[in-house]
Amino acid sequence: MKDYSLTVPKKADLTYNSYIKVHELLDLQKLESDPPQHDEMLFIIIHQTYELWFKQILHEFNKAVDYLKKDQTVLMLKAMNRIYKIQDVLVSQVDILETMTPNEFNYFRDKLTPASGFQSHQFRQLEYCLGLRNETYLKFYKEDEEAFKILSKAIQGPSIYDEFLKFFARKGLDVPQEVLNRDYSKAYEENDDLAKEMAKIYDDPLKYNELYEVLEVMMNVDQKLLLWRYRHVQMVRRVIGITMGTGGSMGVQYLQSTLNKLAFPEIWKARQYIITPVTRDKEEEV
Ligand code: HEM
Repeated sequence: MKDYSLTVPKKADLTYNSYIKVHELLDLQKLESDPPQHDEMLFIIIHQTYELWFKQILHEFNKAVDYLKKDQTVLMLKAMNRIYKIQDVLVSQVDILETMTPNEFNYFRDKLTPASGFQSHQFRQLEYCLGLRNETYLKFYKEDEEAFKILSKAIQGPSIYDEFLKFFARKGLDVPQEVLNRDYSKAYEENDDLAKEMAKIYDDPLKYNELYEVLEVMMNVDQKLLLWRYRHVQMVRRVIGITMGTGGSMGVQYLQSTLNKLAFPEIWKARQYIITPVTRDKEEEV
């Protein structure tokens, strides 16, 4: 047999399993159904996978905010682009869940009540970090001290959008004082003057190249979250129709009400104020 010169680990060595904690990880899938229902394994694993990716996204958001505070735009873009790539995985994972038929889900669905993805505190933390702040969600975590603490902290401090707006002002753009001095814990209120100011970036992307890149990467992340919401609600409709959710909401009806949530509203609104010249510069014409 060919010698690959691989090292056979000694008992005290760090190994793949001991480093990645594979045995511990594989011991975390505890089915509620009895007798065990085949599809419940998929259901648990997919949720656990989402939670791990949420953890990584939050980790990257922290970094992106740090870089933004220090005006390190290239590094901020790098972190945001990584988040965007992870979001692609989050969206495409929905395909796997859609291989589960309504019947297969019904075999164990009643065992889940009243648990629901709605209670994912990392998802809520992600929304809060982006700037989607709604304190009514906090009450769902009253019994989970740790989650409540994390979310209460997240809703008090500036979001990535708040930090971005400060950065925007540092770059010489006119950001209304009421936006810069807002109460972070309250829902963000869209500002028309700010949208007009952002339109300047799109009017002249060459002049404002750095800001243009930042605006676009933020829009990518916001749009991909909407795409996930859309794929999730369609999957839910496919699996449970328009019945109530295990978390107690109106199910699809509730989820559809979230499809218009914009974390960075002025970046979207700026589009309506962009002044497109009647003709292009000669050198840009094809
Ligand atoms: C068969 C699979 C699934 C079904 C039938 C389903 C169903 C639902 C329903 C009905 C809701 C509304 C709240 C409720 O009343 O329960 C909800 C919310 C939610 N689900 Fe799912 N879900 C599924 C899979 C997933 C997966 C894999 C994730 C990944 C983490 C997830 C994350 C969420 C989140 C974060 C919310 C809250 C959304 C918001 O408030 O904007 N769900 N789900």
